[in-house]
Amino acid sequence: MSAKNKRREPAEITIDSLSHDGRGVGRDSNGKVTFIDYALPGERVLYQPLRGKKGYGLGTTIKVLEAAKNRIEPKCEYFGTCGGCSLQHLGSKDQISAKQDQLISNLEKIGHVQAKTVLAPMQRDTWGYRRKARLGVRDVEKKGALLIGFREKNSSFVTDMNNCEVLHPDIAKHIPALTKALQKVSSRKRIPQVEVAQGDNGVIMIIRHLEPLSNTDLALLSHFAEVAGVALYLQPGNIDSVHPLYPTEGLELIYRHQGFNTEMTFKATDFIQVNGSINEALITQACSILDSQLGEAVLDLFCGLGNFTLPLARSGATVVGVEGDAGLINRAKLNAAKNQLNNVTFHLGDLFIENVQHVWTNKTYDKVLLDPPRSGAFEMCKRMNNFAPKRIVYISCNPATLARDADILVNTHGYKFKQTGVIDMFPHTAHVESIAVFEL
Ligand SMILES: C[S@@+](CC[C@H](N)C(=O)[O-])C[C@H]1O[C@@H](n2cnc3c(N)ncnc32)[C@H](O)[C@@H]1O
Repeated sequence: MSAKNKRREPAEITIDSLSHDGRGVGRDSNGKVTFIDYALPGERVLYQPLRGKKGYGLGTTIKVLEAAKNRIEPKCEYFGTCGGCSLQHLGSKDQISAKQDQLISNLEKIGHVQAKTVLAPMQRDTWGYRRKARLGVRDVEKKGALLIGFREKNSSFVTDMNNCEVLHPDIAKHIPALTKALQKVSSRKRIPQVEVAQGDNGVIMIIRHLEPLSNTDLALLSHFAEVAGVALYLQPGNIDSVHPLYPTEGLELIYRHQGFNTEMTFKATDFIQVNGSINEALITQACSILDSQLGEAVLDLFCGLGNFTLPLARSGATVVGVEGDAGLINRAKLNAAKNQLNNVTFHLGDLFIENVQHVWTNKTYDKVLLDPPRSGAFEMCKRMNNFAPKRIVYISCNPATLARDADILVNTHGYKFKQTGVIDMFPHTAHVESIAVFEL
């Protein structure tokens, strides 16, 4: 083993804080900032140093020497190996309060802003919530087994798991039978992943395969799907190649917003909010804060398949949804028609282009909802004065970009920062979902 790759001796460290990705942060014996997996603030742990970077060290907990008061026993037997979760050793109330601290600190340090009110954290069931996932598949000759699961922490290996506590039970319950079925497929080595999506009316599994499947393999997979009661799709190439195997006509997945009497049709490959019950609660809160009225104009940026747009339109306001994915815009239009909402229009547009010009850009709006991807809505916030809304609700999955964008809304455009709060969209992971409300 070269000196560079030599395994370093385990060492002890005291943890001072929690990083944005859920790792304990302390200083090693040389004073170097070190990030330790599965360690909590206030703890002293024995850790295995991992190869770090020039400016900081990395490590993983071997043994907790002095445990924090709020450390709990992880529910899942694969926690620590599986890369799907990183915070199961912290109770869910403590998880969300750490995320709230992170949100407020980002807003202050990056955005130089402070909300007048911090909303109570929004939490629902923290287990069995995940209705969409991409699982790795690996045929491991050494183990004589085929594995289906999330990738292992810090590695490209697939976790050897039979169950998952965060996947929706309608998906998780099929993992053992799917594993057995794929084990019999002759070209199983050429199957790298399975994508799963759960709707209110069933489950779709999409098998990605890198070489054609034989008739025997196809029959075997159809049989699995029939017995399991799931719809099985195949993906031999890019995303456009996805097609149903069983049932041959496929399945049109839906989810409902009970409180708004709307039903959304979506494709298993579409973006949907992964946590169904939190999604409904979040829509209810966003609609109530925006309080759109008949006669008002509302703009929904990064609207996806109309998840917020259609509930907002139930108020009678005229709602405009804009989104960059053509497939989602098509589904959004179909969803509006299906729900008999004719006060909604949808437009395809790249919202990362600040001066994008379209029919929807030359108007003002009473209210704006933003729900961007992790990179945020910098360009749209920069031109927010053109749209001149009196109220803005910003849903964010990255507190750092929210803070950057809040800085523009407050410190450039003069909005008042009324409220912010965390939403437990991704329990047991380090992802932070939040809401922020601005008013003129
Ligand atoms: C967090 S999702 C929200 C979707 C929707 N609001 C929902 O609740 O389902 C972010 C959305 O931004 C879209 N998006 C990503 N980059 C974009 C871009 N450059 N321009 C427009 N939309 C984009 C994605 O396709 C995705 O639908």
